[in-house]
Amino acid sequence: MHRNRIVTIVHDNNKHNRSYIDLIKCHHDVELIDVKSLCAEKFKKSLLLIIQVDLTNPVILRALKDKMSTPERENVPVLFLLNEFSRREVVQANILGATDYIAYPCPDSNFIEIMEDLINRAVETSWSKLSKTQEAALKVSLKVVEDTFSNAASGLEIAQDDVKNSCDMIIEATSKDGLTDWMNAIRQHHNYTYRHSMMVCGYLTSFGMMLGLKNSDLQLMTVGGMMHDIGKSVTPLEILNKPAELTPEEWVIMRQHAAESGHILKRDDWDDMTIDMASHHHERLDGTGYPDGLKGAEISDLARMTAIADMFSGLVDKRSYKPSMSTEQAISIMLDSEGHLDIPLVKAFQAVVLSDDEKIFAFQK
Ligand SMILES: [Fe+2]
Ligand SMILES: [Fe+2]
Repeated sequence: MHRNRIVTIVHDNNKHNRSYIDLIKCHHDVELIDVKSLCAEKFKKSLLLIIQVDLTNPVILRALKDKMSTPERENVPVLFLLNEFSRREVVQANILGATDYIAYPCPDSNFIEIMEDLINRAVETSWSKLSKTQEAALKVSLKVVEDTFSNAASGLEIAQDDVKNSCDMIIEATSKDGLTDWMNAIRQHHNYTYRHSMMVCGYLTSFGMMLGLKNSDLQLMTVGGMMHDIGKSVTPLEILNKPAELTPEEWVIMRQHAAESGHILKRDDWDDMTIDMASHHHERLDGTGYPDGLKGAEISDLARMTAIADMFSGLVDKRSYKPSMSTEQAISIMLDSEGHLDIPLVKAFQAVVLSDDEKIFAFQK
């Protein structure tokens, strides 16, 4: 997929105060480019564009005006940092399509507030693309995921009916309006674990629809996707949310989540197939997976499909220590993983996400 969460900063090689960059890096990835490098691709990858150039220089203004007139710019908020906050700068920023502007330097708290406000407005815009059915399904299911993880973390029983009802809403929304806008909105969610659970849930729903599964089986796939990582509710947060690669010792703890998912669902008396999807989505065909080192035919089709949606979601989603990967790259890595994944199933899954990606691309235009 093409979407990313980069804050792009456009500069003009002058010596401006750029101490805000370290501040942004605490929250988002940053890319610093000069005016010449600004292009449609950069807009597509940006969550926010910050422009810090000399707005009294006619050469820069001309170059910037050209770049800002591309249609891709429409979907990205643009914040101008003004040197003097002069009338001339304000007028130019407005002509160039500023979503907002501030004098810089300014206090860090003001800077962060205005930046997050612009980004959140962009998130709201992605929600506004949803149909009423999609919006209701997303609101209800996100709340259910949050409650489910919170209850499981406290040792409380998970409300199966709430999970199943929200999954029925997801199935209805996906069958009526497709996956694209829904997935775009989910991808803006700040919490990786919730975002990932919802993404796997969405991919498995679409996968099941493409395979023509009957409704009861489709509900099973959707529920299994939502619950597959419920064991992460008991993973220590400093490991779960670590903004860097895990150490080998931390990986040992992280890997326990698959078995924990199984324990939690068994404790709450879930059906065997949901337990299987949650317990075995990290098993690999050659027996190198975990927690049970299952091999070949010992791994069910449902667990194989969950493994595919899970790996794909992990590859295309951005983490603070790795950029997101395109659909094509992710699928290519998965097709090369013979011995690990079920390749004919990966090929079937490819059709689900490639058509979805084309729709996302169209949406961004
Ligand atoms: Fe997992
Ligand atoms: Fe997962």
